Amino acid sequence: MMNVDKIREDFPILKREVHGKPLVYFDNAATSQTPQIVIDAIADYYSNYNSNIHRGVHSLSQEATDKYEEARIKIQHHFNAKHAYEIILTSGTTDSINMVAAGFADILQKGDEIIVSALEHHSNIVPWQMLCTKTGAILKVIPMLQDGSLDMKVYEELLNSNTKLVFCNHVSNALGTINPIEEIIKKAHAVNAAVLIDGAQATPHIKPDVQALDVDFYVASAHKLCGPTGVGLLYGKQEWLEKLPPYQGGGEMIATVSFEKTTYAGLPHKFEAGTPNICGGIAFGVALDYMNSIGFSEIAAYEATLLEYATTELLKIDGVKIFGTTAHKTSVVSFNVADIHPYDIGTILDKLGIAVRTGHHCAQPIMDFYKIPGTIRASFSFYNTKEEIAIFITALKRAIQMFS
Ligand code: ALA
Repeated sequence: MMNVDKIREDFPILKREVHGKPLVYFDNAATSQTPQIVIDAIADYYSNYNSNIHRGVHSLSQEATDKYEEARIKIQHHFNAKHAYEIILTSGTTDSINMVAAGFADILQKGDEIIVSALEHHSNIVPWQMLCTKTGAILKVIPMLQDGSLDMKVYEELLNSNTKLVFCNHVSNALGTINPIEEIIKKAHAVNAAVLIDGAQATPHIKPDVQALDVDFYVASAHKLCGPTGVGLLYGKQEWLEKLPPYQGGGEMIATVSFEKTTYAGLPHKFEAGTPNICGGIAFGVALDYMNSIGFSEIAAYEATLLEYATTELLKIDGVKIFGTTAHKTSVVSFNVADIHPYDIGTILDKLGIAVRTGHHCAQPIMDFYKIPGTIRASFSFYNTKEEIAIFITALKRAIQMFS
């Protein structure tokens, strides 16, 4: 059993007040909070061995290189990649997606088809639209259903021998829907299409096994996993990473350079031009260790109780409508109250110390589907409690009273 009181002690920020009220942080889908052990790892790096990696013969550089490469191995093990060099450290999910999109600009041809889902974050829509403009490929969309799940029947109909790529998030950031990625991957592979899964919202709750999934690319960000911002990963199967051209030119990604010809470094360095976020990479490894020490099954089971409690309590309030009602959800509840604008509720909640996200959540097509301007999104983490949800429900009722 998870000891939440003890876990909360690990997060200094949870002790602070906002507008004179204890902080209730329910914006975990935007970014998670940072445990002391990760903050200490960041301070340790800058206090004791700050140095550039892969370049120096001196001790600090060796130490930093060792720690950075150890972090890559931790990430490899966490995602069960076959090789550490299949883990490319990037600045985050968006960077990882753009890296793959840029690479496919050299591979796709006019008339090739790309499939995305209707549930995507803008970061998994716009790069593919840009890729289509560049290559003449055609973008097709798996529609969504009223409950926030994907229409898998239409997905099957969209797949054909022209389909070259399929992109889907593992979990919807706006609704929390867990998508059937196993089935999506299997069906795409049946027509020889490659699949990229955006794991930004899944990885805080689910430990993905990229080999079992047989996925071609899996991307995620450290800052949703108790790590720092500005670092993330691109997992790619070796064969794909070898096929794709480098994303950026620069130092570190080369084998030899002359004005006549440059040859590229092997994986993963071919995709890691320039000085990376060294401290961030190391802290990402520490954050994964921290979350694994709690356990992802324990996290998911506990968060499910928070989701159930919040859903039940919200539905008792007149005028509340929840968007995203599938049984397979992470601990995200996206809702509106009658015709009150989500922003107005969010502002009152903030005055009462409660942090939620309001708006379209960078997923405008979902809002268009429901014909709403946005939602109020409360997203729970393993360090949240039922007591906090009770405070949130009371505050929400107060906010509603002010607008009625
Ligand atoms: N993509 C993040 C969210 O859903 C920022 O809030």
